[in-house]
Amino acid sequence: MKRLMVLTGGGDCPGLNAVIRAIVKRASKEKDWEVIGCIESFNGVLREPTEIIELNEDSVKGILVQGGTILGTTNKGGPFSYPVKSQDGTWTTVDVSDQMIRKLEYLGVDAVINIGGDGSQRISKRLYEKGLNIIGVPKTIDDDLSATDFTFGFQTAVQIATEAVDKLVTTAASHNRVFILEVMGRDAGWIALHSAIAGGADICIIPEIPYNVEKLKEKIATRYKKDRGFCIIVVAEGAKSAQGKRVGKESQEVGYENFRLGGIGEALKQELVDCGVEHDIRVSVLGHLQRGGTPIAFDRILASEFGVKAFELAMAGDFGKMVAYRQPNIIAVTLEDALKEPHLVTEDSDLVKTAKGLGIEFGD
Ligand code: F6P
Repeated sequence: MKRLMVLTGGGDCPGLNAVIRAIVKRASKEKDWEVIGCIESFNGVLREPTEIIELNEDSVKGILVQGGTILGTTNKGGPFSYPVKSQDGTWTTVDVSDQMIRKLEYLGVDAVINIGGDGSQRISKRLYEKGLNIIGVPKTIDDDLSATDFTFGFQTAVQIATEAVDKLVTTAASHNRVFILEVMGRDAGWIALHSAIAGGADICIIPEIPYNVEKLKEKIATRYKKDRGFCIIVVAEGAKSAQGKRVGKESQEVGYENFRLGGIGEALKQELVDCGVEHDIRVSVLGHLQRGGTPIAFDRILASEFGVKAFELAMAGDFGKMVAYRQPNIIAVTLEDALKEPHLVTEDSDLVKTAKGLGIEFGD
């Protein structure tokens, strides 16, 4: 019997359960494979006692439509920087990757499928270089991995952000207000750009295109006749303020390495006020609502395709790869290639041209 271990790492994302289900269902067609799930990314193997569960067709019943992950996840630590509390109460991080690989051998794990974003796949690559039989499945609502046309979870996040724009339009119009909607995406403006086009926003601010606040003021003015009118601005959390800075704070959470983005919406509001915009301005921060709940059909399908392909790579012994979507195919790329460059919006892309053609202002 061969043993496959599945885990989910990084921030959660709609479609994780659909991948787990697809792996388990595909594996169940093979007599010589069993699947286990590791709880909370690699923590389940790193902890004592070990936290690992059996995964079979019964355990994945009904999870196709469920958001989150039945295995739990974390975006802190990992085998190369595992948080450990010292005797004086302070925390340090240690590299426990060799120990973990030995434990996986002891547990009889023949292959690992790591479902996660760029941070998780960097861990996959390093473990593969240490000899672990590992395959990556890309997930992130940010869609910032260049090897794949789309990551699952992204379209669901865009749908949620678009619905938020639709809702803000009605309240903005009733009150003649300017509304700023702050959306996620880290350093990529994809969620903002897609939802601005889909929701018919007036202004879209993304990290990849620096803005001039005077241009935004001019655009807002065109949306009002005297005091009547409204204006919808979608801003990506990673957009830089007029001073060229990302807005957020360093996290105090142990093992959390990311700069915690958030606050560009309020910062932008202040800039508009300082620049002389006199209309009422309100800010809505969509936050984790973009990551929760049921995946839309596109993401369920993509996640299922990724799961089946990942299992088939494991069965073929084709390790060190990440599954990817290159329309219309699901392919395998090396983890090395997968992590080379982030997938960011480019100013000369057709999507930006479309947005500009529709009159959406970027402030450039
Ligand atoms: O990478 C996914 C993402 O949702 C980003 O869009 C966002 O900046 C970050 O994770 C939020 O992380 P956390 O869940 O740790 O607040």
